[in-house]
Amino acid sequence: MNKEAIVGVIGAGAMGSGIAQVAAMAGHRVILFDANTTALDKAKASLTATMSKLAEKGKIANADEVMNHFEFATDINAFASCGLIIEAIIENLEIKKKVFADVEAVVSADCLLATNTSSLSVTSIAAACKKADRVIGLHFFNPAPLMALVEIIPAVQTDAALVETCKTLMAAWGKVPVITKDTPGFIVNRVARPFYGEAIRIYEEGIADIPTIDWAMTEIAGFRMGPFTLTDYIGHDVNYVVTETVFQSFFYDPRYKPSFSQKRLLEAGWLGRKTGRGFYNYAEGAVQPEPTKDIALGNKIAERIIAMLINEAVEALHLKIASALDLELAMTKGVNYPKGLLQWCDEWGAAKCLSVLDGLYNDYREDRYRASVLLRKMAADNKKFL
Ligand SMILES: NC(=O)c1ccc[n+]([C@@H]2O[C@H](COP(=O)([O-])OP(=O)(O)OC[C@H]3O[C@@H](n4cnc5c(N)ncnc54)[C@H](O)[C@@H]3O)[C@@H](O)[C@H]2O)c1
Repeated sequence: MNKEAIVGVIGAGAMGSGIAQVAAMAGHRVILFDANTTALDKAKASLTATMSKLAEKGKIANADEVMNHFEFATDINAFASCGLIIEAIIENLEIKKKVFADVEAVVSADCLLATNTSSLSVTSIAAACKKADRVIGLHFFNPAPLMALVEIIPAVQTDAALVETCKTLMAAWGKVPVITKDTPGFIVNRVARPFYGEAIRIYEEGIADIPTIDWAMTEIAGFRMGPFTLTDYIGHDVNYVVTETVFQSFFYDPRYKPSFSQKRLLEAGWLGRKTGRGFYNYAEGAVQPEPTKDIALGNKIAERIIAMLINEAVEALHLKIASALDLELAMTKGVNYPKGLLQWCDEWGAAKCLSVLDGLYNDYREDRYRASVLLRKMAADNKKFL
């Protein structure tokens, strides 16, 4: 697909406007469509401001020139001559299916249809289309113009050649594409679950308090933000709902079990930074709790959470959800992990990781702590992943 192809984006919210910006800056004409005119006006104003800022900083030559690439539409018929449509509307399967059926009635037979869904099955969205083999998942991360990763998700029905087309296109847009199977959470939202879930479990058991767990994961493990600071930042409405969806979609596998602590925050409306209260209190003048900077405790916390994360990555590799390289790229480029989890496992040695997990499994006797059979094999053979 070349730059002449017109890109249609459905939904002018956080993701849709970001994706539209990426496509326009890559040289495409972009039609941004939203059912809500207020959302469309807001996106137009915000894109205009962003382009001016980028021009001031010298990152683009001319703000007006890029803005001229955009058309803002409230009528879906505007998509008639598009070569690619990317959908980024509300995360609701029935609404997405209807939008895909409506779009298919407007576009030409060779127009590609992509969804930016985070947690729904691309296969079920594709099933709403007559020509389901042209439907694919293109999962961008927030904010789309800054985050390099794009997960490419072929549905069961997708024409295999489309994967390469999308890979080339995403690379031309300056993105880092990875390919993943159409399974819940794809790569990032699946492999990252223990970062939140195991941290909350440690807190709920009273092993350590919230600031101490955040301190361990930043100062000792090297993550940019601790799990509680990060979920407060993402918003518990978003993070909890992803956890619950992944848990249900995995047929209630205990590895992905949501927590009551986070559910109660959601019920209380303590959604994190955006509401002024989450795990932490963001009110002006609120005194932030201090971590217990106990190195031995910090090491124990970091080791437990990292072992759980490594196990997720290894199990995803074992089940061929993605290649080893794509798993590493996904976690470093999609959620800025300090290093890839397979590399982490190689540095520790699979045997150490296995012994942490088996220790937890023996203590708890919960399926949640079962080690991947691949990790067990790698430990037995003393092998490395990379
Ligand atoms: N926010 C994130 O961090 C993130 C990251 C990756 C993927 N996603 C996915 O991207 C999609 C959009 O998320 P968002 O955060 O941008 O949502 P958002 O609420 O900011 O924006 C959604 C937009 O879609 C519009 N819309 C809703 N129904 C519509 C319809 N039937 N036709 C046309 N427009 C419609 C709304 O008016 C709104 O402007 C979701 O599928 C979400 O799961 C979100």
